[in-house]
Amino acid sequence: MYLGIDLGTSGIKAMLVDETFATVGVAHAGLTVSRPHPGWSEQAPADWIAGAEAAIATLLREHPEAMARLQAIGLSGHMHGATLLDASDRVLRPCILWNDGRSGPQCAELTARADFHGIAGNLVMAGFTAPKLLWVAQNEPKNFERTAKVLLPKDYLRLWLTGEHVAEMSDAAGTLWLDVGRRDWSDVLLAATGLTRAQMPHLVEGSDVSGHLRADLADRWGIPRVPVAGGGGDNAATACGMGVMVPGTGFLSLGTSGVLFAATESYAPNTGDAVHTFCHAVPDTWHQMGVILSATDSLTWLSEITGKAVPDLAALVGEVTAPSPVLFLPYLSGERTPLNDPGATGAFLGLRRATGLADLAQAAMEGVAMAFADCVHALRKAGTPIEAAYAVGGGARSRAWLRIMASATGLTLLEPEDGDFGAAFGAAKLAAACATGDRSERVFAKPAVRAEVVPDAGLADAYAKKYEAHHAAYPRLRDLAA
Ligand code: XUL
Repeated sequence: MYLGIDLGTSGIKAMLVDETFATVGVAHAGLTVSRPHPGWSEQAPADWIAGAEAAIATLLREHPEAMARLQAIGLSGHMHGATLLDASDRVLRPCILWNDGRSGPQCAELTARADFHGIAGNLVMAGFTAPKLLWVAQNEPKNFERTAKVLLPKDYLRLWLTGEHVAEMSDAAGTLWLDVGRRDWSDVLLAATGLTRAQMPHLVEGSDVSGHLRADLADRWGIPRVPVAGGGGDNAATACGMGVMVPGTGFLSLGTSGVLFAATESYAPNTGDAVHTFCHAVPDTWHQMGVILSATDSLTWLSEITGKAVPDLAALVGEVTAPSPVLFLPYLSGERTPLNDPGATGAFLGLRRATGLADLAQAAMEGVAMAFADCVHALRKAGTPIEAAYAVGGGARSRAWLRIMASATGLTLLEPEDGDFGAAFGAAKLAAACATGDRSERVFAKPAVRAEVVPDAGLADAYAKKYEAHHAAYPRLRDLAA
């Protein structure tokens, strides 16, 4: 038995699988995001532990025998969050999340201080960890002075589970302190942020052992002191769950954030259009991805302001035959790929007296699809063409959205057979690789495909026109909205 725990933005998921990777049990615990100022996004690390405890307690209650036979645990989590600990491992302030845009001004400063592009292989973007630490240094100097360790969100769960300060390569790459080609911390990049290696966790690969379950937790839960695998950032972990380990078919994730992910032949940095180049969660592999900050979050926002539940909003969008007359820019939390602009804002354009909620819901889905089309172009320009991608994440349950997505991006979207192939599943696979030493396709297998959603020729033409308007709208609106 293997347990994968994914710390997602909107909740924690714990998934128990057997040796054939069949699901034995799944448990969830919800999480909220606090937004104390416009553009900020934070979570209390104590909530992660409470959520993980609750999810594990559910699995222990529902599957006591299977849990007693646990062989390893794997971790996954939302990336880039800055969890600051003092010398006694006390949390100094709420974690600043991946979709927090406050450190925009610090990005230019860091870029000028050291060769982040060359060593970290990525643009210095506001959601990444390094500029957040510079923001803390400049705005909360006491917290910065007291920072003894900086942990990524899932690595804080690991500290609770094992008592060890450990990170793994795929998530560490998103800090901007990793020399991504060499898979080691960069003293130069740390120094540029006023930090040293001593403030960083020890590094392992995602499929390696990072520590063992603490004796007191093992006793309390009545399970063995199993190894905890390094695991992966949620995107690399999802790729492990989908068997996206080599170039070819990628995956498109419609979660709170939107991700277009492709494994690459080797370390292939290309910072153009804010393409991300990170380590994969297994040794000697890397990947590229385009990341948009408000994918399903665009519908969640619309749901919150209209009081209509997300599934009801999605149900308003039936069989799409023509684009919505309304154009939506999904930059509710700024944007990474391709804009790299934490200050970008969202917009509805083309409203009329006759516009209804169904038009807005469809426009929101289309705006997210256009943003994914931007990612397809960005990756192609970066030397990573993608023709087909597995569709994963909560939003991928909407067939209407997948048809829109395929037609707007030109991608063939592959719907996996029934099953749950998200980051928790990938984390469970990394646990299996860690326990057995097997990193082959037997563990990281590709799922069977239930349906292929191909671009619809008529819609694709109409979306190509709408994409031009989408593309032109942001630069024109940027100055007006500033
Ligand atoms: C990736 C990113 C998001 C988060 C949250 O760069 O910021 O995908 O990992 O899922």
